[in-house]
Amino acid sequence: MTLAAISTLLSQRIGLESTVISPRHIEKATVTRQAACQISDIKDYLKLIQTSEIEFAALVEEIVVPETWFFRDRKPFEYLKNYVRSQWLSRRNPSILRLLSMPCATGEEPYSIAITLLEAGLSPNRFIIDGIDISQRAIAKARQALYSKNSFRGDLSIYQQQYFQPTESGYQLTQSIQNLVNFYCNNIVNVSLSERKKYDIIFCRNLLIYLTDSACKQVLNTIDRLLLPSGLLFIGSSEFAKISPDRYTSICQPFTFAYQKRETTTFPDSLEGNKEKKKDYLNKGITIHSSDKSVDEKNLKQKRQEQNPPVSLSQSPVLDIDLPNIRKLANQGEIDEAITLCQTYLTHHPTSAAAYILLGELYQANRDEVASKKSFRKALYLEPNSESALIHLALIEQNQGNWASAEILQQRIQRLKQIDPR
Ligand SMILES: C[S@@+](CC[C@H](N)C(=O)[O-])C[C@H]1O[C@@H](n2cnc3c(N)ncnc32)[C@H](O)[C@@H]1O
Repeated sequence: MTLAAISTLLSQRIGLESTVISPRHIEKATVTRQAACQISDIKDYLKLIQTSEIEFAALVEEIVVPETWFFRDRKPFEYLKNYVRSQWLSRRNPSILRLLSMPCATGEEPYSIAITLLEAGLSPNRFIIDGIDISQRAIAKARQALYSKNSFRGDLSIYQQQYFQPTESGYQLTQSIQNLVNFYCNNIVNVSLSERKKYDIIFCRNLLIYLTDSACKQVLNTIDRLLLPSGLLFIGSSEFAKISPDRYTSICQPFTFAYQKRETTTFPDSLEGNKEKKKDYLNKGITIHSSDKSVDEKNLKQKRQEQNPPVSLSQSPVLDIDLPNIRKLANQGEIDEAITLCQTYLTHHPTSAAAYILLGELYQANRDEVASKKSFRKALYLEPNSESALIHLALIEQNQGNWASAEILQQRIQRLKQIDPR
């Protein structure tokens, strides 16, 4: 009973999902802390952690799992290196690249990021890396930067030779790399992190799986506030179902578990009160290609008015609308219009899995789960290895509480990644 109350307190304050951590683990941590405090009655210990922040933090130290290692999963770091080389450095005026590792545990992740950026050709004064974790012990270890063999999994000998000094007590990271990361001890759940700092890239890996739904939402909202538009988000390998396709697009590189934040506000958010935006958008116009000549949005509207009812648009043989423009239209909040154009596009390109995926996303934006599921299924039928369709479907199944179906889809995605581990 009291153990359950301790578990609830941990859920409320640090977002810990009690079903993910075994009750034995919580019990063991509590017994350890009771012994340290010389409190034999668990009820007295509960009273203590309810009132003492210091003791609650000490209990958290026993509960958290700061399991991490250098270049964990490898692919995210390879992608980061390519991204910096091919996209960031080729910008006309690349500013300072700001990255956040949250949670950073004992520092292996942010230090791997620092090494990756240097190897990508970014000089130390061109980037800033912050690391945040709730565990004071982990942050102290990160600042010490002395690591055992356990922090190196797989063949990392090249990095070991270049960036570490072997000592009697472990591998000491060189000071020049240590200087590149700022560490902060903070609770990501329930604490509003300063919004003065915005980031181009956030790593939030292997935390969401331990959190309750509401804590997960809080963390994702925090990420949303801290990440710049078009910024990159890296999550853990089993956390994709937590990411909303309304806000993030998968970069579709297997094993990177990377997403790009959509540039504009999400489809659903932009649905309301968008009349002014709509006018503004129509004034600007977008180019939609037709087989005879290019027609702008105004002409297209005219064409649609001439063709009454609007459904006749989808029967027009002259229109060859392209998907990026439909997406642009949707990002302006014109969801219904985008749906009509997408349907039109499909009458001319009935085997386009990409169009069915876009249509599914648009229905999703309109909160029409039945229609969106149908579209994603159609995409999957046309392209059985479409990772994007699988991810969307898995998310819907998960939202609907169809765990078995979600699990099967996740297994398909994993199998896909094993076949094509690019
Ligand atoms: C498994 S490690 C992940 C480290 C690294 N991101 C990785 O993927 O290798 C999880 C970390 O989350 C931290 N953590 C758990 N709850 C937290 C919270 N509410 N706020 C900040 N950090 C938290 C733990 O202290 C632990 O170090």
